[in-house]
Amino acid sequence: MIRQSIIRGVGAYLPERVLSNDELSRTVDTSDEWIRQRTGIARRHIAAPNETTTDLACEAAQRALEHAGVRAEDVDLVVLATTTPDNTFPATATRVQARLGITKGPAFDIQAVCTGFLYALTQADNMIRLGQADCALVIGAEIYSRILDWQDRGTCVLFGDGSGAVVLKAAENGADAGRGVMRTVLGADGRYYDSLYVDGGPATTQTAGHVRMQGQEVFKHAVDRMSRLVSKLLEEEGLSVADLDWVVPHQANIRIINKVGERLGVDKDKVVISLEEHANTSAATIPLAMDHAVQRQLFKPGDLVGLTAMGGGFTWGAALVRW
Ligand code: UT7
Repeated sequence: MIRQSIIRGVGAYLPERVLSNDELSRTVDTSDEWIRQRTGIARRHIAAPNETTTDLACEAAQRALEHAGVRAEDVDLVVLATTTPDNTFPATATRVQARLGITKGPAFDIQAVCTGFLYALTQADNMIRLGQADCALVIGAEIYSRILDWQDRGTCVLFGDGSGAVVLKAAENGADAGRGVMRTVLGADGRYYDSLYVDGGPATTQTAGHVRMQGQEVFKHAVDRMSRLVSKLLEEEGLSVADLDWVVPHQANIRIINKVGERLGVDKDKVVISLEEHANTSAATIPLAMDHAVQRQLFKPGDLVGLTAMGGGFTWGAALVRW
């Protein structure tokens, strides 16, 4: 049985505490001007000391469920994309499942760094297509503030904490014709492991470690991968860039986002940007940007939306969605 899956609801959450560029520049050698010009980031949100990835994930998930008009007990799959799980095991998704009162179906984490949400969406979509699930919570939630080296200006200014979620449901016969996740693509090339990684972990240092990155290397690959993936999916669907209503790119750097738009040949006003408010929240940026668009009622039924991301690994992915 092949069934289309439909995004029924979107939700997001940013922790209360805001850390501005100016405030950061008092503890590390940087400036508001440099950060804004080079990245497009104005501020980031930082989780409270007692807040966990489960807390962030549940906030976004509850908002997505409300938006979808779906009860938690009807969810039969939880897929959580995160690089900052509460504990090494079990999966943070199982804590989210229990907290929300979900008792049916599997719950698992996906680790694909900034591509995590698209890896998670693809798994959930595939399971719905195969009839293995009917109603999935797909979540991206991260607390990068706990794995940043706050002395390294090359990385600490770029990231923030946050979460976003969607409710993905099997299409209903007839009414939903043509809508939903149309096509997804994922990839990875582990030869680039050292270009963006965390220098710790349970099997190496037994500590969580800190983010290390060769910024320019990542930048180059991000522009190339993220634009090519959307073109590839359009081509496979027999569509062109002119058919695209919206692009939701991973929110890491405004210059990457602008270059992806230019390469694709889409108008600037078709590219969803929420980066300024929350910085790079890794697996959470795509649902955060989708929520930004939904709150502003940008997506209309029938709109063609392209999602695209690239991250550590390297990993990459994209999806075409008929809203
Ligand atoms: O989701 C995937 C994860 N990561 C990314 O997507 C990030 C991809 N990379 C980038 O966004 C950019 O490469 C960065 C924002 C990280 C850096 O921007 P850049 O234009 O590539 O700068 P750069 O690394 O070439 O550095 C230029 C200068 C250097 O100084 P010198 O050598 O020219 O004197 C850096 O030391 O800027 C300096 N610099 C800073 N200055 C003030 C680097 N970080 C900072 C900082 N504040 N925070």
